[in-house]
Amino acid sequence: MSDTEKQVTPYEQFGGHEFFAKLVARFYQGVRHDSVLAPMYPAHEMDEAERRLLMFMEQYWGGPQAYGEERGHPRLRMRHMEFAIDAEARDRWLTHMHDAILEMNMQDSELENQLWMYLVGAAHAMQNIDDSPGSH
Ligand code: HEM
Repeated sequence: MSDTEKQVTPYEQFGGHEFFAKLVARFYQGVRHDSVLAPMYPAHEMDEAERRLLMFMEQYWGGPQAYGEERGHPRLRMRHMEFAIDAEARDRWLTHMHDAILEMNMQDSELENQLWMYLVGAAHAMQNIDDSPGSH
């Protein structure tokens, strides 16, 4: 690579701040109307939660590092322990993300798939209530 060639981050490939702000805003529109997920948030400011997820996503994909400056190490699994996340909550979270991604009408299907696969893995990692057969 020549010295003048710049490394393009995924953040830039996605479309930078505008892309992530729209994605997260659309996701939270879904969460606000979700009867399982919305009640998990009232103690918090929903707008603040939206801002934190936006900062995290931007940082994760190589954009501004504001999340770390404000919140420190993500330790997301630990931070989600206070919420009861079973398979239903996980799948609802993913459904709103899926809807939000589709609404972005991404041209690059490989990039779209990369985003989706990351979120599927992360959402499964965040589940903290076992739903193994016989547990009901
Ligand atoms: C699986 C279902 C999930 C549920 C039900 C859930 C729910 C929540 C709730 C209720 C909060 C607290 C709101 C706040 O104060 O910010 C939160 C915070 C957060 N969530 Fe999730 N979440 C899920 C999955 C995920 C995933 C997959 C990611 C990342 C890809 C994520 C990233 C975050 C971040 C960055 C915060 C803010 C953490 C902080 O700095 O305090 N969440 N989530």
